Amino acid sequence: MSSVVSRKSVRAGSAKAAAASKDRSALPDEVVIGKDVLELLSAAMYVEPLSIYREYVQNAADAIDARCSSGEPGVEHCDGKIDITIEPAQRLIRISDNGMGIPTATAVRTLLSIGASPKRGTRARGFRGVGRLAGLAYCRTMVFRTRACGDDSFLEMRWDSQRLKAALRDVNQNDALTEIIDRVVSISFHEAIDRPASFFEVELQDVVRTKHDALLNVPLVTQYLEQVAPLPFDASFQWSEELIERLSDVRLGNFDLAINGEPPLRRAFRDTFAVSEKIDDTLENLELVELTDMDGGLAAIVWLCHHSYFGAITIKSRVAGLRARVGNIQIGDARLFDDIFPEARFNGWCIGEVHILDPRIVPNARRDNFEQNIHFSNLTAQLEPLARGIARRARTASSQRNKAKKHNKPDLVIDKHDSSTTSKRSTFRQPSHTLTGGQKLLRKSLLDSIAASNLSDRDCEIVLSELLTEMSQPK
Ligand SMILES: Nc1ncnc2c1ncn2[C@@H]1O[C@H](COP(=O)(O)OP(=O)(O)O)[C@@H](O)[C@H]1O
Ligand SMILES: [Mg+2]
Repeated sequence: MSSVVSRKSVRAGSAKAAAASKDRSALPDEVVIGKDVLELLSAAMYVEPLSIYREYVQNAADAIDARCSSGEPGVEHCDGKIDITIEPAQRLIRISDNGMGIPTATAVRTLLSIGASPKRGTRARGFRGVGRLAGLAYCRTMVFRTRACGDDSFLEMRWDSQRLKAALRDVNQNDALTEIIDRVVSISFHEAIDRPASFFEVELQDVVRTKHDALLNVPLVTQYLEQVAPLPFDASFQWSEELIERLSDVRLGNFDLAINGEPPLRRAFRDTFAVSEKIDDTLENLELVELTDMDGGLAAIVWLCHHSYFGAITIKSRVAGLRARVGNIQIGDARLFDDIFPEARFNGWCIGEVHILDPRIVPNARRDNFEQNIHFSNLTAQLEPLARGIARRARTASSQRNKAKKHNKPDLVIDKHDSSTTSKRSTFRQPSHTLTGGQKLLRKSLLDSIAASNLSDRDCEIVLSELLTEMSQPK
């Protein structure tokens, strides 16, 4: 059976274009849209399982923003809430929000439209009209429940994802997209007792097992959302208030998002952070930079927090790398801007964010990077000097530390020549107040030479004997 969509409306809507294009008559009257489109829009788009949380949190954030700016009575103080329930034993995930919801009268149409987002052209974060399908690849049943203010009941839409996957696999079944949807989707209406006046929730039942069972692993989900979701900064982070003020043009969201009823999550930034398992460091100062768009407007606001630049910061700290955000949701990962650094590794030494405001800088469909256009190039061109600045700070800090190490840790260096250094070590450990000025100088120069690690054991012996001779001479 073939699947078709009429092109009549396309023709009517673009009569001029059709007239201008002579060979359009060669096109068929109907465009075939096959079932595989659904796989392309779910499994193929969201290869990183955790990214489905980002899609649902993003929808929740848009819906809460919409309710808060709706002028609806009682929302002067906007209390956006996103609740995530993760039940590993039941293999169930539920993500609910108290945003606008969707009116039951239009919900079926909205939730069955594909690639036709009502948000396109608005300030909302989503715009491609496919993100809600992300869960299809990772569960056996996906359920949406919603209602908007004024609705008596709520709508429930169930997607039989297992049946859908079987249909996609079946090479003998060649149904139209619409026919497949008709078979796997069921709709019902329910009394809305104990439900908020407006809400939306998505429930994934029988969640499939992925690497580390990440979707049902609360610590992994928490760490992911602390980096990606539009959460408030932690109150103990000393620059949280200043950043909120300076980022006032950004739709920060800053919603309360809680997992399994625990205290709401906060962004991962704190005044101290782990550079590695053994080394901690402290953030020292904040740098803010505004980047301009092609017309001289504001393209992005960058903030960087400088520190001691001890080395590449462990990814476990969840703050490493210059990150990109649109609508306060992260695009890509900590490595996104590797290319703009003189050496990619220096991105790992950096702590900071680029909040993008220019709507012409567009996240790609997978949200793992940006569409490559002149506006994105203009942005990266302005980021490069900042990246060079980070690399410079990293190199300077590193060489200063090396110098200090050479001067301050002679024993450590001498231990390198352990087999024959008993006498050397005892010499170096001679308390410096018992040495003359000349002896001190000589000792320092010897320590410098050895610390530079360019002295062979033989050379070391020669210098040492000179030192001993010098020291044994009358003062
Ligand atoms: N949490 C939600 N609250 C209210 N409406 C929602 C929610 N999630 C999805 N929707 C509706 O479904 C539509 C499609 O969502 P989605 O497929 O994620 O595409 P997009 O976010 O790009 O529009 C949204 O535009 C919105 O109208
Ligand atoms: Mg979306």
